[in-house]
Amino acid sequence: MKLTDVEKAMRDGDDGPAVARAMDLLIRYGEALGAEALVETRNVCGTVTASTPFMRDFAMNYGGLEAVYSEFNLDSAEVVPIPKVRAFSSHLQLGFDPHNPADMGVGEDVVKFYRRSEAMVAKMGVQMMNTCTPYQVGNVPTRGEHCAWMESSAVIYVNSVLGARTNTEGRESTSAAMLTCRIPDWGYHRDEPRLATQGVDLQIPVESVEDWGLLGYWMGDWVQDRVPAVRGAMGRPNLPRLKHFGAAASSSGGVEMYHLVGITPEAPSWEVAFGNRPPQEVRAYGARERAETMDRINATGVDRAVDYVMLGCPHYTIEQIWEAANLLEGRHVHSNTALWLWTPRAIKDLADRNGYTNIIEAAGGRILTDSCSAMSRAVPPGTKVIACDSAKQVHYLPAILGVQAWFGTTSQCIDAACTGRWHG
Ligand code: F3S
Repeated sequence: MKLTDVEKAMRDGDDGPAVARAMDLLIRYGEALGAEALVETRNVCGTVTASTPFMRDFAMNYGGLEAVYSEFNLDSAEVVPIPKVRAFSSHLQLGFDPHNPADMGVGEDVVKFYRRSEAMVAKMGVQMMNTCTPYQVGNVPTRGEHCAWMESSAVIYVNSVLGARTNTEGRESTSAAMLTCRIPDWGYHRDEPRLATQGVDLQIPVESVEDWGLLGYWMGDWVQDRVPAVRGAMGRPNLPRLKHFGAAASSSGGVEMYHLVGITPEAPSWEVAFGNRPPQEVRAYGARERAETMDRINATGVDRAVDYVMLGCPHYTIEQIWEAANLLEGRHVHSNTALWLWTPRAIKDLADRNGYTNIIEAAGGRILTDSCSAMSRAVPPGTKVIACDSAKQVHYLPAILGVQAWFGTTSQCIDAACTGRWHG
């Protein structure tokens, strides 16, 4: 790997042992990938806090939070002092909502330990956004900006919708990037891998959030980790639609980048999306594909009595909370059903001030932050059947918790919450 003089100095310890460990990690990682150089990044999203009983015990036995950071973030068995981050860095979601630990099945001792690690992370200069959607609470990369982000639903949004550049990174590589402002120059940082290879011809209009979730789920299942371009009647998708579309495509497949012709920034035309090369394959998406995808997503749904309605995967926008509050106003959540909405802390604050939290709580629902049911493995006690408006959550929760799941519109989900039954 070719290193600049500045990078060599970091590697050799001029900026302290933690930066040297971080640079060593990035060099090993980059060489394993076949990268020839590192690229400068000033925008990193990763997971830094310690929030598990295992990490708490590790900290107690091996030298506190710096030992946790050294081992789990920098792959360093030697404990090194952790300096402030150099890159603008944001914290992603956690394994629980620390404001509601009892619902998450988390003890006070773990919350106390988490609070200490949160204080350390804040001192390091990492922004505690605590969401899978940093792009809706203040971290919006610009076109062409090199980033180092974790979280598949965020990565696909950053590459495709914003035209910024990132691979799906991990805890260690993002932590190293926070300290060095570097990440391997590979994959979606380069021009060529961003070009489409697979084409999708829409034969039906794709309009609603549900439509976009279904299309994403179908497309991801087909293209896996290749780059698709989509053309046809797709209206003008807003943030929630693109958020659900990307999350679905990166769940049924490993899609990290897509193009919507005439909509996303690197696809002003079909030809440009493909780099003026012919597509390797083009498939049509019509009524049959949509119906088959709906059946596949709902394959685990058998019982129509719904125990838990989960909204907010990826984390709800304020627009979606507003919509849910409007659908719920004057109604009551059924006594056998729970309704939990998940959103970033900053959006919850806005919902509080706008009165939406009051409306949702008056109806018997809850707004939770920082995590989600899939991440926390937390659902209301006794949950056997869930309903969601997110193809991603329906993809994961049955596999993680063995529950049955129904997928449908937000309105159908709110109806299920209020009647206790799935009518979708
Ligand atoms: Fe976010 Fe959890 Fe979905 S982290 S994308 S709400 S699975």
